[in-house]
Amino acid sequence: MIDFHTHILSKMDDGAKDDSVSVAVLLQEKAQGVKKIVFTPHYYGMRSAESFFLSREEAMARLLPQIPQGIETRLGAEVHITGVNDPPHETLCSLAIQGTKCVMFEFPFLSAWSNTLVDKVADFVQETGYKPVIAHAERYTEILKNPALLSEFADMGCYVQLTTDAFLDKTLRNFAFAALRQGLVHCLGTDAHDAQRRPPKYQAAKETVYDAGYGEEWDRTQEIMRRLLVGETPKLPFGNVRKVFGFYR
Ligand SMILES: [Fe+2]
Repeated sequence: MIDFHTHILSKMDDGAKDDSVSVAVLLQEKAQGVKKIVFTPHYYGMRSAESFFLSREEAMARLLPQIPQGIETRLGAEVHITGVNDPPHETLCSLAIQGTKCVMFEFPFLSAWSNTLVDKVADFVQETGYKPVIAHAERYTEILKNPALLSEFADMGCYVQLTTDAFLDKTLRNFAFAALRQGLVHCLGTDAHDAQRRPPKYQAAKETVYDAGYGEEWDRTQEIMRRLLVGETPKLPFGNVRKVFGFYR
């Protein structure tokens, strides 16, 4: 399995505070059958991309000798985007997941989005050919209020990432399953921050999804992520994503 969204690299953000935590989380991932992990520390644009890359390289160099056998890792970033005063496209492209043309975007959670946000994302795709991965799509009030936005993002060439926990969460599971059913879940990530408070929950999510009869859809996300990591831009499950998401509550 592939974990597309993690805060395992230490001392980068609010994730792992040191390498012992990183290793503990990596072992939890391994025990659950995760074999490929993308490290996506937060990038908020308050610092230069160069200084971010430097810290990320240092963190990676520290951790590298301690990465458990059988785990493949990739460097990435979770880039905060608001639609106002965002970093230039060139910087956003430089923050793509290593070896891919995918950049993980995180939007404001609770506050209303700026009118320009969705258009700015569309411009970015058109101008650069890079593909945004919408981080933890289940977290945004705007998307929960108007799930058709997921279709809009998918139609413009974005990939939608859901947190594996969403399938286990009482209030989010209906949304998560509806999105999966509609072919609007393309990537999965644990968003693991540490081994206790926010540990990776991958295996339990897989079992829940399989038990609910969506094993095929789950496997499809794994195939999409696998292909993204080898530099391909796989077609989304339903080609023409339905405009109407429907009622999920
Ligand atoms: Fe995150």
